[in-house]
Amino acid sequence: MSTRMSSDGPYEKLVSVKMSREEMEQRYQAQKYYRIVLLIPTLLLSLMVLQTLLLPRPLHTHSDVCTDPCRLVLLESIPEGLDFNSSTTNPSIYQAWLNLIGEAQSSLDIASFYWTLTNKDTHTHEPTADLGEHILSELTRLSKKESGVSVRIAVSLPQESQPQEDINILSNAGADVRKVNMRELTSGVLHTKFWVVDKKHIYIGSANMDWRSLTQVKELGAVVYNCSCLAEDLGKIFEAYWYLGEPGKRIPSHWPASYSTLFNKDAPLQLPLNGTSSTAYLSSSPPALCADGRTQDLNAILSVIDDAQRFVYISVMNYLPTMEFSQPKRYWAEIDTQLRRVAYERRVRVRLLISCWGSTQPVMIPFLRSLASLSDPKGKLDVQVKLFVVPANPRQKEIPYARVNHNKYMVTDKVAYIGTSNWSGDYFMHTAGSALVVNQTSAQSTDPTVQEQLQAVFERDWDSAYSSPVNQHTDFNIVC
Ligand SMILES: *[C@@H]1O[C@H](CO)[C@@H](O)[C@H](O)[C@H]1NC(C)=O
Ligand SMILES: *[C@@H]1O[C@H](CO)[C@@H](O)[C@H](O)[C@H]1NC(C)=O
Ligand SMILES: *[C@@H]1O[C@H](CO)[C@@H](O)[C@H](O)[C@H]1NC(C)=O
Ligand SMILES: *[C@@H]1O[C@H](CO)[C@@H](O)[C@H](O)[C@H]1NC(C)=O
Ligand SMILES: *[C@@H]1O[C@H](CO)[C@@H](O)[C@H](O)[C@H]1NC(C)=O
Repeated sequence: MSTRMSSDGPYEKLVSVKMSREEMEQRYQAQKYYRIVLLIPTLLLSLMVLQTLLLPRPLHTHSDVCTDPCRLVLLESIPEGLDFNSSTTNPSIYQAWLNLIGEAQSSLDIASFYWTLTNKDTHTHEPTADLGEHILSELTRLSKKESGVSVRIAVSLPQESQPQEDINILSNAGADVRKVNMRELTSGVLHTKFWVVDKKHIYIGSANMDWRSLTQVKELGAVVYNCSCLAEDLGKIFEAYWYLGEPGKRIPSHWPASYSTLFNKDAPLQLPLNGTSSTAYLSSSPPALCADGRTQDLNAILSVIDDAQRFVYISVMNYLPTMEFSQPKRYWAEIDTQLRRVAYERRVRVRLLISCWGSTQPVMIPFLRSLASLSDPKGKLDVQVKLFVVPANPRQKEIPYARVNHNKYMVTDKVAYIGTSNWSGDYFMHTAGSALVVNQTSAQSTDPTVQEQLQAVFERDWDSAYSSPVNQHTDFNIVC
């Protein structure tokens, strides 16, 4: 033993003996393992044979039917001063956010693009910022330890110039904040806007965490209360952002099973919405963020358009058959082609309501004119495009990036699609966004469906004095 201290010789020997004993142990274990591994398929095969022989095939597995008393409410923000002369109104996004904050008992997860809830953030002195400021103070209260609610915020990594004060206030109060560097991960941004409360209630829609989204920008969203099946699924999309928000994380080549979903366009979740039997699923973009089973947002859009029998109504802020931000320029016509296809092949009526404001890219107009020119009453081609302008008085004109229709939804004669993305290629290929697709075609209810309510919103806007048709003579500089 004394030589062991002075020379390495015996120690090496000791190690080699130990090693060989370990090797033997390993070999033994490996043999045992292979025997078991070989047994498993044999067992499985016998079980499968037994099952097909003995059991009737279930119509669907138990887990894809939801029995929660889900209640969906369509929400809007109508900019100050807009008057529609219409009975179609919906509860406000502001009120729904307050309700959700009031409901929260254990957790609130928010996926967000940026935060400007106060006048200070936008360097303004607007009385209408008070709603946003109230939301921030309520969220600050909720973030404190005493509330017993864990608040997690995933936000797109702010650029130097972007205000970060709201995030800092919430983080100092106790909220857990992660900044997701989508620019580095997918050359996009985190553009998603949704809330998940107590893994039970959700909000999803076009509104950013911005005071202007409550009073000066036209927005559309939905809140679903008491719906843990849908909330758990949206929670999985949140968890992916949360994971990527940790410093140094890369997008996994294959997302672990905990992120995967059973619910998608081919196998949607069956659930009651306001007591009406419905199906729904959540789509996500970009493809790199879609775990197994998740429908890509673009595929959701293409399949919803394809499924339409009579009409497709689309209300989005931006519509471009291009990769808006790519250099060199790239044409990208997946959605555009699908619209032209259903209009031509199946005579589906297509209506696009697009926004026009100071920041509209002029190149959007010729593309819209092109689509609008595909109209021929004799040939039964029925495609129309209108531009929606939110007027502004001199005071409102002073508010930066406001007074615009920021809606991002689609309604067909079959389904409602409520999304968070601008409609150009980049948003589906690089940018994180998500959408809720609700299908109540088999509903037997006399109550209005989500689809009918969303159709009423579209028709109200389309027929209003704020919309004007795009044709060959449309002068962008006069309309916008
Ligand atoms: C969506 O489009 C609008 C108008 O071009 C733009 O202001 C906004 O930043 C876009 N969203 C993203 C994530 O780029
Ligand atoms: C959720 O359901 C419970 C039980 O039916 C009900 O008391 C509660 O008001 C519902 N919550 C919301 C936000 O609708
Ligand atoms: C809506 O549901 C019906 C059956 O209930 C189905 O045939 C149709 O494809 C669904 N539509 C979409 C867009 O998911
Ligand atoms: C669901 O019920 C709520 C009231 O509880 C109502 O505000 C909402 O419009 C209903 N939604 C649908 C789609 O019928
Ligand atoms: C509402 O009605 C008034 C009076 O008929 C009209 O001047 C105005 O343009 C209408 N507004 C909209 C948005 O249709």
